Amino acid sequence: MSFTGKRYDFRDQAGDYAQLAEELAGLLSGESDFVANAANTAALIMDALPDLNWAGFYFLRQDELVVGPFQGKPACVRIALGKGVCGTAALERRTIIVPDVNAFPGHIACDAASQSEIVIPLIAGRELLGVLDLDSPSVGRFNEGDGRGLERLAAVFLDNVRLEDIG
Ligand code: SME
Repeated sequence: MSFTGKRYDFRDQAGDYAQLAEELAGLLSGESDFVANAANTAALIMDALPDLNWAGFYFLRQDELVVGPFQGKPACVRIALGKGVCGTAALERRTIIVPDVNAFPGHIACDAASQSEIVIPLIAGRELLGVLDLDSPSVGRFNEGDGRGLERLAAVFLDNVRLEDIG
């Protein structure tokens, strides 16, 4: 486990996400416990990315998503597939960016401060394992570059856990 605490300003968005992915790989290497690695992934994201109020995981349990390690205010525990932004990203197996949560039908409000959201599905092979969810107090916080960068971070997380422990 190594943590540099390096500050990123994301003016070079792709470059900073690439460095953050390397930092995450260093942080997780040598540990395969998925709770420990999910907790440190959420903590690194919350620390490194500006303007977030929630960052963390939901994992698929039977037919619903159940909250996992996260940083932020207490969150709704269970989300059915297809419900909310998380359940929609999980069901459709694609990254979803919601610039304004108030305009997303079915958005599940956990923290009234959240104004925008991005959800990345966690997929290994053909298997859906859960989602990585980030909320921001600013409208329009996330763009497609964030989507690519966070998909990379999710891949680093999945590379550093025993997938059978999650599913
Ligand atoms: N807003 C999410 C619920 C999870 S919280 O943001 C932590 C959704 O609509 O799925």
